[in-house]
Amino acid sequence: MSAAIEDDKRKVTTHRLKEMKDRGEKISMLTAYDYSMASIIDGAGMDVILVGDSASNVMAGNITTLPMTLDQAIYHGTSVMKAVKRALVVVDMPFGTCSGNPVKSLEAAIRIMKETGADTLKIEGGEEIIEDIKKIIGAGIPVMGHLGLMPQSINKYGTYTVRAKEKEEADKLISDALLLQSVGCYGIVLEKIPAKLAKEITSKLSIPTIGIGAGGYTDGQVLVMHDMLGINKGFSPKFLRRYEDLHTIITKAVQNYIRDIKAKDFPNEQESY
Ligand code: KIV
Repeated sequence: MSAAIEDDKRKVTTHRLKEMKDRGEKISMLTAYDYSMASIIDGAGMDVILVGDSASNVMAGNITTLPMTLDQAIYHGTSVMKAVKRALVVVDMPFGTCSGNPVKSLEAAIRIMKETGADTLKIEGGEEIIEDIKKIIGAGIPVMGHLGLMPQSINKYGTYTVRAKEKEEADKLISDALLLQSVGCYGIVLEKIPAKLAKEITSKLSIPTIGIGAGGYTDGQVLVMHDMLGINKGFSPKFLRRYEDLHTIITKAVQNYIRDIKAKDFPNEQESY
């Protein structure tokens, strides 16, 4: 076996993500929320698995990520951690658990880390919550930042449109990215911002950037699993590439099952004890 493949089997760490950036190897990241899917995604060789608060949308059926609770994040994180052997696992801190009270934020962060066994956390926001992030990193917990479109702030924006198209917001984003790096974040998700801006931020930072709807110049890419597998039919932003049409495949399988039951074909003799 070649050294590169041998190498690939090692557990992904925050340190290895930095090495990947340094040697120009793109970082793959995908969401997962349950044991079975996390097992498949990890086995396929994903570098980073995000237990995103997008679980609020795709698992719980909410319109926004805001209803996600700390207990729900811990439930999903625990299920994913039971499956994952290689990927770095990142759990999202849910809305309201990291918002300007560093002591409380650290308590929530410690609960996630202790109860799930996850490797790291992801937190939406910049300067406004920098003291919270410092406190969490100070306790030895690695933090991935999240800037650009921050779905937990949807009620402030009022729209899911591309962020930081204007200079003022772009400048703030650049200074937030540098600030997150300066307090010790090991990486930053950049969501739905112009590719040119993502490129500029990526070149200014020594830590990796992971893009979603941020063009091809970031150090890695992340998508929501249900979107890229085509389970969600109704969500088709420009940045989304669908790798399967599982909605159609699952519908056909379920319809065939119904058909076989109705036709008294299932179970047959071989399928009976
Ligand atoms: O919760 C999530 O899935 C995310 C990704 C969109 C980056 O934060």
